[in-house]
Amino acid sequence: MTHIIIPDHETSIGVAAMLDSGEVIALPTETVYGLGADATNGKAVAKIFEIKGRPEFNPLIAHVDGIRMAEEHGVFSDTTRLLAQNFWPGPLTFILPLKETSPISPLVTAGLKTIGMRMPRHKVTLSIIKDLGYPIAAPSANASGKLSPTTPEHVIQSLGYKILNIVAGGKSVVGLESTILDMTGDTPCLLRAGAITRADIEDLIGTIDDATEVTNDTAPKSPGQLLKHYAPKIPLRLNAIDINQGEALLGFGALKFIGIKGGGRINDLPEGWVLNLSPTGDLTEAASNLFSMLHKLGDSGADSIAVMNIPETGIGQAINERLQRASKS
Ligand code: TXA
Ligand code: MG
Repeated sequence: MTHIIIPDHETSIGVAAMLDSGEVIALPTETVYGLGADATNGKAVAKIFEIKGRPEFNPLIAHVDGIRMAEEHGVFSDTTRLLAQNFWPGPLTFILPLKETSPISPLVTAGLKTIGMRMPRHKVTLSIIKDLGYPIAAPSANASGKLSPTTPEHVIQSLGYKILNIVAGGKSVVGLESTILDMTGDTPCLLRAGAITRADIEDLIGTIDDATEVTNDTAPKSPGQLLKHYAPKIPLRLNAIDINQGEALLGFGALKFIGIKGGGRINDLPEGWVLNLSPTGDLTEAASNLFSMLHKLGDSGADSIAVMNIPETGIGQAINERLQRASKS
């Protein structure tokens, strides 16, 4: 049974503790209900994708309790600060350069060097973030491909038994996902339209680019199409059952049957050339390690990466989708 938590003055401490222990909880925001997890806990973030049944890893928005927390993770320009001072808390998400010192899980950013952040305008959720002390990663709390939820009942209809707890916070007053503004280029660029409009933004900072515009012969682009994907520096070879010369190994499960072509054992490979997504074959753990391990092997000095077979079940589908993309880029 899904439990609906009716907020009182102690709710935020209790919910923050559950998030801190790795639980995924549906939370109210002014736009739509989000499916939240501690953004610094890769395993908890992996559960979000599992619960939503997303066949791929899109980067997630990190929800902060204010500009100070946001500046621990993303690089703010003067323009970003001005926009935040005017529109936060509220339905405006910034895409910002990710700070190298940020402890945010790479699964939140899908391995990118950028991070999406916003400060939601909802008292209960803001105090939960404050008590947690870290951003909360949250996509909309609906199953993949379904409508975004604006009430706890919608969340139950869509995700039902898959989550234990929903924090009730009334009907989402905006009812539409946040505006997304990419601040990483020379000119800010609108990636998703929302309640804060292009005109609202331009009144404050002057002309911006608009990637959502419809021209005569092109359909509007979705954020998915606009998204840059992280690709490792060196080629990937999938479904490997052995290792070629010069290859590093990204393993999954037991490695005892993996050999090196032409002779040798994986213990003989240079240090840092063998990483295991999950020695016990746990797909959630594998998902949480995927981007960080690809980064590490990309920097290991190997010429390429051999990746063992990942089962196509549950979140394994999203892992394989990501590996397929990476192997083609
Ligand atoms: O109103 C909202 O934004 C709601 C509430 C829960 O805050 N959240 C939401 O999340 O709509 P979601 O996951 O359904 O949409 C987030 C969008 C995705 O299209 C994703 O590609 C984009 O934000 N995004 C997040 N981080 C990004 C990044 N680093 N670069 C580019 N796009 C990013
Ligand atoms: Mg969504």
